[in-house]
Amino acid sequence: MIDLRSDTVTRPTAAMRQAMAAADVGDDVYRDDPTVLALERRTAEILGKDDAVYMPTGTMTNQVAIRTHTEPGDQILIDVNAHVARPEAGGPAALSGVMTKGLPGVHGVFTADDVHAAATPVHPFTPATLLPPTRLLCIENTHNGGGGTIWPLERITDVCDAARQHGLRLHMDGARLWHASVAMGISEREYAAPFDTVSVCFSKGLGAPVGSALAGSSELVARARRFKAMFGGGFRQAGVVAAGALHALEHHRAGLAADHSKATAFAEGLSRIPGIEIDLARVQTNIVRFSLAAMPSGTFVERCHAAGLHLLTAGADGVRAVPHADISEAQIAEALAIAGAVMSEQAA
Ligand SMILES: Cc1ncc(COP(=O)(O)O)c(C=O)c1O
Repeated sequence: MIDLRSDTVTRPTAAMRQAMAAADVGDDVYRDDPTVLALERRTAEILGKDDAVYMPTGTMTNQVAIRTHTEPGDQILIDVNAHVARPEAGGPAALSGVMTKGLPGVHGVFTADDVHAAATPVHPFTPATLLPPTRLLCIENTHNGGGGTIWPLERITDVCDAARQHGLRLHMDGARLWHASVAMGISEREYAAPFDTVSVCFSKGLGAPVGSALAGSSELVARARRFKAMFGGGFRQAGVVAAGALHALEHHRAGLAADHSKATAFAEGLSRIPGIEIDLARVQTNIVRFSLAAMPSGTFVERCHAAGLHLLTAGADGVRAVPHADISEAQIAEALAIAGAVMSEQAA
């Protein structure tokens, strides 16, 4: 099976497994696991922040960040299709008691005007007490739902400046920040600079089996550690998995460029298949999103699956494919042949 459902399906390499087997461990809850501490230090250093806290998932780092910045009844501003607002299972409402106000991003990227429009205080004739206080702005870079789209640095600056004018805190969901950094030649630290907190994932394109981290100032990370504990995130001898994440940080970041090339090759091949619609300008990193004019996406992915290609639907006519380290160029060619055959069967 050629598995292009997600970059989360990547398996640890032999060298990564060796690093994990040899990991020095302690108890994460008592903060004496040396490998977790080393991973947290290294992540904070790469992101240019005081400190970082390791957690099991990107969902947890995002949700802990939201809880860290807000109180129940607050409102957060976020792109309508952001991961935090959609496939995090209603976390902002359930875990932090906050409302999300969706901003109209184009492939996940919104503007400073969108922020001003959403955060502008009401006229003094209207009691401000009627409205939920807006506390936090989140951006997602790269943007999964947008198709792995990269936030331009100038746009980040404009949006963050706008948010600061309204007294908002800033969080970046940088689950795939590594990809933006490799694609643009801009350091993770530079991308992270305007934000109070940044979450990053080791378990996606970087290929580690488990984990994400939330970075920020010492004060914010200290508060985040409390919510990590509250949400049940203390994971004891986590050094075993943290060693995989450390290995990925040191050895797998540069290799992401190869995933981007595979995504581009796949997207270009798809664009030549009749019946498939794809905007190649959206394919900026490792995620490929396309749509089908004449076949429900469910039917398409089921037929591809039967022929040995595993993809996910995205709505009734959309499909997502994510090339990753465990997929070869030859498999990309094979995947294109399967997609082409499924589409031509349909036309026949
Ligand atoms: C942009 C983004 N943020 C957060 C997450 C959540 O990560 P996890 O699956 O580790 O909870 C994902 C997962 O795919 C993601 O794409």
